[in-house]
Amino acid sequence: MDQTQAQSDHQSLARDHERLLSQYAEIATLAGGLAHEIRNPLSTMTLNLDLLREDLLAAESPRERRMLQKVDSLRKQCVLLERLLNDFLQFARVGALQKKLADLNQLVVEFIEFYQPLAKEQGIDISPHLATNLPQVEIDTQLFLQVLTNLSRNAQQAMPRGGVLELLTYSRGDRVILEIIDSGEGMSTETQARMFDTFFSTKPDGSGLGLPTVRKIVEAHRGTILCDSEPGQGTRFSISLPEANNSASA
Ligand SMILES: Nc1ncnc2c1ncn2[C@@H]1O[C@H](COP(=O)(O)OP(=O)(O)OP(=O)(O)O)[C@@H](O)[C@H]1O
Ligand SMILES: [Mg+2]
Repeated sequence: MDQTQAQSDHQSLARDHERLLSQYAEIATLAGGLAHEIRNPLSTMTLNLDLLREDLLAAESPRERRMLQKVDSLRKQCVLLERLLNDFLQFARVGALQKKLADLNQLVVEFIEFYQPLAKEQGIDISPHLATNLPQVEIDTQLFLQVLTNLSRNAQQAMPRGGVLELLTYSRGDRVILEIIDSGEGMSTETQARMFDTFFSTKPDGSGLGLPTVRKIVEAHRGTILCDSEPGQGTRFSISLPEANNSASA
């Protein structure tokens, strides 16, 4: 009797679980579709505001100058919305991975080449420490470039007067580790507790989707991400990924 009851409870739980999963998938698809639908008219608005702005640039009358100010402020809001939608779509897209065997060192070098000019402009020294004979990992390289971009952008924003950005790779047992360390302002314990929450941001223009996207990408690769931060000292993010051979067998 008890066994029958347990079996029926189990079946009903499994049905609830299935139903929730399909509701979640439906909402995710709807939200993604909605973001797409908003993005197109929004870019038409930005484009038209750009044209209007050009017309008003030579404005001489006070009335036209006030109009220019309003157009500028509308344009700024549109750009913010466009960024939010792009970040949202990026967050929602993580799921379909295009994994291939890759060398994390090579990816870091590629990232540094692309990021170096901007870093220099911001007074940031990039200091790579890349382990030799690093085992390969099986990753979606485009998504991992996104991880490096999001973490470095946060690091850069935490070092408004410049600083050092260290990029480390090494292996520990059957894991490959990637660390991103900045000498920036660090985080309070409150911020650390909430930093991976979607839409949590301490920045006036932040969408709060950078770290949630990073974590989603890392976890989709059966990786983990840890953070260690000290206000006034800096922040270290450590990403641990399974070495390629182990990853294939699990
Ligand atoms: N390297 C860092 N140093 C200090 N604070 C950080 C660092 N990385 C993240 N944070 C804190 O975590 C919060 C969440 O980061 P997240 O990248 O998710 O969003 P954001 O940077 O505010 O906005 P977005 O990345 O969407 O533009 C940030 O607002 C900031 O307070
Ligand atoms: Mg960010």
